[in-house]
Amino acid sequence: MLSNRIAALILLCWPVGAQTPAPAAPAPSPAPAPAPAYVGSETCQPCHEDIYNAFQKSPHKLVDTQKRRGWEGKACESCHGPGGKHAESADKAAIVNPAHLPPAEADRDCLKCHLNQPTHIGRIQSSHAKNEVACTACHSIHRNGPNGLVPRRAAAVNELCASCHTAVWAEFQRPYKHRLPEGAMSCVDCHNPHGSILPASAQSYAANEPGCFRCHGNLRGPFTFEHAPVRLEGCGSCHEPHGSANPRMLARAEVRYLCLECHANLPTAPGPIKNPPALGGVPPAFHDLLSPQFRNCTVCHMKVHGSYVNQDLLR
Ligand code: HEC
Ligand code: HEC
Ligand code: HEC
Ligand code: HEC
Ligand code: HEC
Ligand code: HEC
Ligand code: HEC
Ligand code: HEC
Ligand code: HEC
Ligand code: HEC
Repeated sequence: MLSNRIAALILLCWPVGAQTPAPAAPAPSPAPAPAPAYVGSETCQPCHEDIYNAFQKSPHKLVDTQKRRGWEGKACESCHGPGGKHAESADKAAIVNPAHLPPAEADRDCLKCHLNQPTHIGRIQSSHAKNEVACTACHSIHRNGPNGLVPRRAAAVNELCASCHTAVWAEFQRPYKHRLPEGAMSCVDCHNPHGSILPASAQSYAANEPGCFRCHGNLRGPFTFEHAPVRLEGCGSCHEPHGSANPRMLARAEVRYLCLECHANLPTAPGPIKNPPALGGVPPAFHDLLSPQFRNCTVCHMKVHGSYVNQDLLR
């Protein structure tokens, strides 16, 4: 009987008794996670002397010295993340190397500072970003000099771009081309490697017109009489701007074939097809394509990019 009562008492008390010591035990309360340990750039120096010394001449050195950027004295860790653990252990798993991150993540590392800078308008739309070509594929952070962080000389830019775009580079070896192989121009004269609002990441000029007008301003207009494809389809509808086997970098070996691809709706020859075949018109049409006189379209239609005075682009 007594033992029963004791048992009941124990049963009654047991949960309470079991709980009473609880406050003494360390409760699993959400202790604040230890702040990531930043140790400062100077800590990295003894073990990474070459990189540290070269860094003193890098434009990114500003991150170390300018307070308002929020990383004063911690430039290395602005890209590599907190280095406390790594600096103690020298374990490479304890530090971020952007080169080993997936491209999108590596880009995010850079864009936390470089987002929305003028040069990166449209960066997110750029074909490079979409195709996993990271910032670091073109920018070597720890290399100084003209081929380093930012390739500036035309030849250095071309070398960089050609290293992936071998087929495009081959087009520049054709007889009629822009002078890239000579180092007189570079890919970024026509393309913005960070993306743009025009197709093929084309550079734009003035009011979002093709960058070609920066150099070929005489063709810009606005013309009283436009030639529709120049504006609507772009220079690439008639030219191969990388390089061509044809004079004037035209897409066709003879000018007339280029024109007749779009203007072949002139009346065609009745009867047996002669040479040249059905292309173009014969009398009574004004143009007589059987006559050599009419084959050289641009001898008469001189203002093929647009005219200020003549609807038929004759002058
Ligand atoms: C005590 C020496 C020491 C210090 C201090 C040190 N490192 Fe290192 N770090 C090393 C060694 C050694 C390696 C190469 C590890 C290996 O190859 O296994 C390395 C590798 C690295 C790597 C390459 C990691 C990888 O995955 O390829 C980075 C990035 C790096 N360190 C950055 C830093 C930064 C930033 C600092 C300062 C915050 C720093 N280190 C401080 C010794 C150090
Ligand atoms: C602007 C971002 C940035 C800053 C600032 C920066 N790094 Fe780096 N670091 C990189 C990237 C990106 C790589 C990967 C290699 C590459 O693309 O150049 C790298 C690679 C490294 C490596 C590995 C080198 C190798 O050959 O594998 C070490 C070590 C390193 N950095 C140390 C440092 C130290 C020390 C500092 C400060 C003095 C520093 N980094 C500052 C971005 C940065
Ligand atoms: C903590 C901020 C910060 C981070 C992160 C950062 N940068 Fe920079 N970057 C700067 C500053 C500051 C400059 C120098 C001033 C300027 O050009 O605005 C600079 C300059 C540059 C330049 C131009 C240098 C020149 O000569 O005009 C390039 C290219 C560049 N950074 C690329 C990168 C890449 C690639 C990464 C990622 C690996 C990166 N940056 C990460 C702050 C940063
Ligand atoms: C396909 C190669 C390529 C990629 C990818 C690339 N850049 Fe560039 N970047 C260049 C070239 C080339 C220049 C020099 C442009 C010039 O001289 O007009 C440049 C210039 C810059 C400059 C200097 C600013 C200026 O207008 O001179 C900064 C900053 C920069 N890039 C940051 C970045 C960042 C951040 C990323 C990734 C989000 C990135 N770049 C991705 C090739 C690239
Ligand atoms: C690391 C390799 C790599 C480098 C370096 C590189 N590209 Fe690219 N580029 C690509 C890839 C991948 C694509 C997407 C697939 C394609 O169109 O070939 C691309 C696409 C392009 C396109 C087509 C864009 C579009 O919107 O259709 C242009 C233009 C271009 N790159 C220009 C450049 C220029 C200019 C440079 C030098 C500043 C350069 N690339 C450097 C890999 C590279
Ligand atoms: C004179 C201006 C100009 C130069 C210089 C130039 N491009 Fe282009 N590029 C263009 C135009 C315009 C197009 C679009 C052609 C079209 O409409 O079919 C284009 C298209 C491209 C494309 C996408 C289509 C394709 O042909 O694969 C890539 C990639 C490209 N260029 C890469 C480069 C590279 C790399 C360089 C430097 C070696 C370069 N371009 C130099 C004007 C230029
Ligand atoms: C950075 C300046 C520059 C830009 C931008 C530029 N060009 Fe040129 N272009 C030149 C120069 C310089 C020549 C003369 C080349 C030569 O004689 O070797 C030329 C020649 C040409 C020719 C051949 C002219 C002839 O008489 O044989 C055509 C066609 C042409 N460019 C079209 C374009 C197109 C289309 C674009 C835009 C996609 C463009 N260019 C962008 C500088 C430029
Ligand atoms: C409808 C086809 C067509 C279009 C579109 C076109 N062109 Fe032309 N372009 C020609 C023809 C044809 C010639 C050669 C004229 C001749 O034989 O005298 C030429 C010649 C040129 C020349 C060298 C002679 C000169 O007039 O300076 C340049 C430069 C040129 N084009 C640039 C451009 C640019 C830039 C664009 C885009 C804004 C463009 N072209 C669009 C057909 C075209
Ligand atoms: C990509 C297609 C295309 C090519 C190539 C082309 N044209 Fe045109 N052309 C047009 C279009 C579209 C019009 C506008 C037709 C209209 O307004 O009815 C036009 C209009 C014209 C006109 C003015 C006709 C009028 O009455 O307004 C002339 C002249 C002309 N083109 C000559 C040429 C010559 C010469 C060439 C070769 C150097 C050429 N075109 C190449 C598409 C083209
Ligand atoms: C001998 C000079 C001459 C040559 C060569 C010439 N044209 Fe014409 N073209 C003209 C004249 C003049 C007109 C205006 C005719 C009219 O208004 O009745 C014209 C009108 C046109 C028109 C506008 C037709 C319309 O219905 O308004 C087009 C398109 C055209 N030419 C295309 C071409 C093409 C394509 C070639 C080359 C195969 C060519 N021309 C060669 C002189 C020439």
